[in-house]
Amino acid sequence: MSKKVTKIGVLTSGGDAPGMNAAVRAVVRTAIYNGLEVYGVVRGYTGMIEDDIYHMDSKSVANIIQRGGTILKTARCKEFFTPEGRLKAYNNLAKRGIDGLVVIGGDGSFNGAQRFSNEFDIPCIGIPGTIDKDIAGTDYTIGFDTAVNTAVNAIDKIRDTADAHDRLFVVEVMGRDAGYIALHSGIATGAEKVFVPEAQTDIDELVASLTEKERRKKLVNLIVVAEGDKFGGGNEVGKILKERMPNADIRVSILGHIQRGGAPSCFDRLIASRMGYYAVESLLHGRHNVMVGIVNDQMNYIPLDTAVKEKHIFSDEWLHILKVLAS
Ligand code: F6P
Repeated sequence: MSKKVTKIGVLTSGGDAPGMNAAVRAVVRTAIYNGLEVYGVVRGYTGMIEDDIYHMDSKSVANIIQRGGTILKTARCKEFFTPEGRLKAYNNLAKRGIDGLVVIGGDGSFNGAQRFSNEFDIPCIGIPGTIDKDIAGTDYTIGFDTAVNTAVNAIDKIRDTADAHDRLFVVEVMGRDAGYIALHSGIATGAEKVFVPEAQTDIDELVASLTEKERRKKLVNLIVVAEGDKFGGGNEVGKILKERMPNADIRVSILGHIQRGGAPSCFDRLIASRMGYYAVESLLHGRHNVMVGIVNDQMNYIPLDTAVKEKHIFSDEWLHILKVLAS
């Protein structure tokens, strides 16, 4: 029988994602509702090591559900990947009697949580918060929906100017090693092609198709490239296309960190609230070292190490649909 948690810590770690604040709010309010004490850890694992930890009450999370970024701040902490760093972090939790932890972040953050809980008797629950949507065991990660909508809005604007000048724009979006932002934003903006890390793009075929469409005067002005695609991102793809099609007017636009900021969408606020609630429920029910995800609209719990090791499965179906619709 696992011991009952009484005091929990909550932190955000890795790249921030819109909706993290909604998740923090849900964790804090659900914990307090159930009689737990809550501590906010500032700047992720860095704050755990540096003892930057404060007591939170219900008011600490007032007026944040609509805000982007994270009130707890975030960081990528190398020291936590050393045994000495984790021991310091543990001592700072232990001296406050913190006996449960909620980690909101991506796979790097869960990796840290997994190591920590293997060494110390503190159950950790992960909440997937990353714009990249690259985590197994969940259909959604907090921040993806907002990021992809930000990308769509930006690409729509680029399309206006592309159209006015008869230009071809190569737009690079984020996603690290995953192509979901590129795939979703590319389909939603009617792109000619998306380049994703999960699939090999045939440049010869693309150039032939662009040339053929030019001949029949079909205006093509948009290619979306994931930053982690096999050619090395938007600039590289732009360079190749300029070499292969010297007469085309080609521009490259890198959207960058705009995709991480801004108010979370309704959808991200909802999943963040739900996941935050169930993360605390998980601790209350004695779950150890799982990530709370949502699959087919149902809560799904998978071991943190599975979430870290397994890749989110990328379906080629959408790539085919895009090809058909761009024809
Ligand atoms: O993981 C989120 C993400 O925005 C990725 O899409 C991107 O590759 C990376 O973080 C950028 O990280 P940083 O803000 O540290 O440059």
